[in-house]
Amino acid sequence: MILERKDVLGLEDLSAKEILGILEIAGRFRAVFDRPVRSVPIMRGRTVVNFFHEPSTRTRISFELAEKRLSADIINFSSSSSSFSKGETLRDTAENLAAMKIDMLIIRHSSPGSAQYLGKVLECSVINAGDGAHEHPTQGLLDIMTMQQKLGDLRGKKVTIIGDITHSRVARSNIWGLTKLGAEVTLCGPPTMIPGGIEKMGVNIEYDLLKAVSQADVLNVLRIQLERHSSKSFPSNREYHRVYGITEEVIRTLKPEAFVMHPGPMNRDVEIASEVADGPRQVILDQVANGVAVRMALIYLLSGGDPGALGG
Ligand code: CP
Repeated sequence: MILERKDVLGLEDLSAKEILGILEIAGRFRAVFDRPVRSVPIMRGRTVVNFFHEPSTRTRISFELAEKRLSADIINFSSSSSSFSKGETLRDTAENLAAMKIDMLIIRHSSPGSAQYLGKVLECSVINAGDGAHEHPTQGLLDIMTMQQKLGDLRGKKVTIIGDITHSRVARSNIWGLTKLGAEVTLCGPPTMIPGGIEKMGVNIEYDLLKAVSQADVLNVLRIQLERHSSKSFPSNREYHRVYGITEEVIRTLKPEAFVMHPGPMNRDVEIASEVADGPRQVILDQVANGVAVRMALIYLLSGGDPGALGG
């Protein structure tokens, strides 16, 4: 068995062996994308509920597409179209879903720990699609898959994560996953955006952007989460772009084979210049494509799917 667990709540909980196992199965699902018929009937008769209590484009559509390609029955609901808008609690919502005997719940929520809570109270599997600033495990997995495609084994590879580390669940899931696989992770950004004590996660801190960029095999550029800043951690978007923005000038200091990632959605010309976001060194849409394969693999494995049945 690759995953002997009910839920996937964060990469902190997964072993290196589990992460590599999921990515191996994701690679097999990625191969299905090039076939004329992209769906497989392996989740027929199973029901997956997608509950997004925060806005999402990539994660929501990617989960739904993964479920459709596995032939699952799908229910989508959001806070604005559910009784959440009438004040119903997460616990009451969870108990109602449990009573309806669903097979899996995908949840995005602004509260850290909300996915863990539902994992405890529900019998069905729960996948965390992003909980506050805590974790975004499927984003971490798709980022690692994209790095593996370009670099192979990640042991000893240098990954620089740049930007708003404090508010970033993507950074946390990347750090947990990458350090387990033996990559060297450096965090870079304004001191106001790098939380004290984060070195304990086994990462380096470098405040000098050009030093952090020039040593990297991969740059993972984070979105500045303007909606999560109660007071500004930087003087202005223009000032942030001037000091920490990934511009063409910054890109010229990268190693020749190094590449640029961004989880999306991007603030163009704030954390990343448009020319870089659309340029030859980025792999942003590869990340998006890999997201569907990673989510297919997780849903399949949590449903007890047999990797042997997928073929080579
Ligand atoms: N990367 C990511 O989580 O994007 P969405 O918020 O659009 O899902």
